[in-house]
Amino acid sequence: MTVGKVFLVGAGPGDPELLTLKATRAISGADVVVYDKLVPTEILNLIPGGAARINVGKRAGYHPVPQDEINRMLVRLARAGRVVVRLKGGDPFIFGRGFEEALELDRAHVPYEVIPGITSAQGCAAAASVPLTHRGLATGLRYVTGHCRSNEPLNLDWASLADPDTTLVVYMGLANITEIASELIAHGLSADTPSVAICQGTTPRERRLFAPLGELPNAARAAQFAGQVLFIIGRVVAIAAEREGRVAAASTAASTVAMDVVA
Ligand SMILES: C[S@@+](CC[C@H](N)C(=O)[O-])C[C@H]1O[C@@H](n2cnc3c(N)ncnc32)[C@H](O)[C@@H]1O
Repeated sequence: MTVGKVFLVGAGPGDPELLTLKATRAISGADVVVYDKLVPTEILNLIPGGAARINVGKRAGYHPVPQDEINRMLVRLARAGRVVVRLKGGDPFIFGRGFEEALELDRAHVPYEVIPGITSAQGCAAAASVPLTHRGLATGLRYVTGHCRSNEPLNLDWASLADPDTTLVVYMGLANITEIASELIAHGLSADTPSVAICQGTTPRERRLFAPLGELPNAARAAQFAGQVLFIIGRVVAIAAEREGRVAAASTAASTVAMDVVA
């Protein structure tokens, strides 16, 4: 039996229209799709009827199928001659453990191809009209994880992250947002720095919460977000907050997104 192939595919942040043409083509040609919790139903609906679906159900802190087992599963399926799509939220190589899977496939001499996806930072920022860089406001951009192994403190370089000229995007930061905000402020970032929390960005369930950094933890707790949350912190957020305020004032009825602004 000839060995099949694995496509490590980024499903983007949630909106099916943000899938790339390559991703769509790979999904429609798959014999098996192995997918994570982050991939929404609207995208799973694109899997052809004849293809097998395997839900490995990963989300932060909850891994019903351990990563090693997922790695072995991909190798096993490809060795059985299947065309496998490994579908991950956002981009497979941004906080997605996609490269661990690629390394395992390399070790097993299984051919694979990586199909990048729009990472949630870019999808959520675009949906909220936040320019991640903007002349005069942000000369750079950093993506960090706000998640740490259980009970360990976050191991981030706070002094370099507390840079008012850089936009900071925090993935997986909801549980630690109090620590994140207070460390940034303690290392010199103003408590007035504009910030936004975006929950389930780019989907019909999207919610946005604008707040100055100092008030972000309390506001995020009060919002009781259900689902994936991303934080964008930096002066560029002020542009979007101001615009959203204007749009909401002009026509509340036209707004399709639940939005809170903490002054
Ligand atoms: C394990 S990471 C995976 C990131 C993914 N590989 C990417 O490129 O976006 C999961 C985190 O991504 C962020 N995230 C993913 N999709 C999101 C969405 N639609 N809205 C808000 N945050 C999202 C959240 O911070 C979530 O905790």
